[in-house]
Amino acid sequence: MGEKREIISGSKLCELIIDVLKLLDQRLVSHSLRVSYLLCGMLLTKGGYTNRQLADYALLGVLHDIGAFRVNPGEDILSVEMEKPLEHSVYGSLFLRRFSSLEERSKIILYSHLDYQTLQRMDFPEVNIANYLNAAGRFDLFRKALGEKYGVSKLYVYEGSKYSSETLALLDEAIKKYGIIEKFEKDSHKAELYRILGNVTLTEEEVEKYLELLLYTTGFRDDNNVIDTVTSVCISMEIAEQLGCLSPEETENLYYGTLFHDIGMVSVPASLLNQDRIPTNQEMALMVRHVEETERMLKDRVSPEVFSIAVSHHERLDGSGFPRRLSEKDLNLPQRILQVAEGVTELLSRRPNRRQRNKKEVTAFVTREIAQGRLDERCGGVFLEHYNAIMQKVNNRSEEVLSNFWMLQQQYKGLLGTLKKQS
Ligand SMILES: [Fe+2]
Ligand SMILES: [Fe+2]
Ligand SMILES: [Fe+2]
Repeated sequence: MGEKREIISGSKLCELIIDVLKLLDQRLVSHSLRVSYLLCGMLLTKGGYTNRQLADYALLGVLHDIGAFRVNPGEDILSVEMEKPLEHSVYGSLFLRRFSSLEERSKIILYSHLDYQTLQRMDFPEVNIANYLNAAGRFDLFRKALGEKYGVSKLYVYEGSKYSSETLALLDEAIKKYGIIEKFEKDSHKAELYRILGNVTLTEEEVEKYLELLLYTTGFRDDNNVIDTVTSVCISMEIAEQLGCLSPEETENLYYGTLFHDIGMVSVPASLLNQDRIPTNQEMALMVRHVEETERMLKDRVSPEVFSIAVSHHERLDGSGFPRRLSEKDLNLPQRILQVAEGVTELLSRRPNRRQRNKKEVTAFVTREIAQGRLDERCGGVFLEHYNAIMQKVNNRSEEVLSNFWMLQQQYKGLLGTLKKQS
């Protein structure tokens, strides 16, 4: 990463992405981690792969069912794989093509749901990996469903049709050689997998891609989470620029603190986010929990500065915020900037049951919050002063996100339609 200090490493970013997905579907993530580990075992058994290739394939394994979070939320992955494998594999491969550095490799996901016989007719250099992934995935799902007695030998009836002989031999050998089943039982495969994922140094550009992947992963429950995050980032950065007194390092901390501040939001049910009334105590407790989730996920993965900015976004200067009821003396300038950005984002959020607030309402809100000593006067003042210019930028960024979603959806419908016609 050259001269630039590392804010978060590639492996920590992967862990964060996995943590966000776990909030959506713990079982699906467990399956994906086991499949990734099986795939790595097969590749190590075969030999000849660099650390970089292994890390890329491991990530691909971890994310091989990522489309299911979007197109089959809450459904049982075994029935999805058996009855309608196409939808989630199409969505997943397109999603990773757009939002990760896996690029061409993301096609492996699409092809990993096809039989070996069909794959042989494909003009794609990595059909063997697709077949390894297919067998690893199938093995794991059946083993989970049928219990310990399920072994690779059961897959041999499909030798030459669904799986190549090489695939089955590698799977069998890898499981024995690395004691994979015992590792699954002891849950010790995860740490090893994280080591494989972390065995590479990502370029700055790749880190950007991973960050985008993380950002869009938070949209699986609700697209608005992504729009709200980019809105907050935009407002934070604009306020910082207009204030003009933050060091480059503080500005960078603010950027990442804002980018990560609501990743715990995935733990909050969309129905609660989308309602337009004062939350009950119980609902409020759920809301507070999203900050705790953010804290848990960021702890020891980002610098203390980024951490403290992210987790104090709901605190207020008069001590009325949450979860720690911090007050003026505890809150530094970057934290105060994010608090303004967060408060404004809340009003601008496009939730289905809630009207997006207009300029008069937003400025009245900020003015009142300043007067009541809740938001910082300087940060809020700069926001009010440059409202139009800031909002122009916010709108442009939101449009970009919306068009990303739209294009992905179009591609998905197009490719799915074509493939369905072919089959
Ligand atoms: Fe799948
Ligand atoms: Fe799978
Ligand atoms: Fe929040």
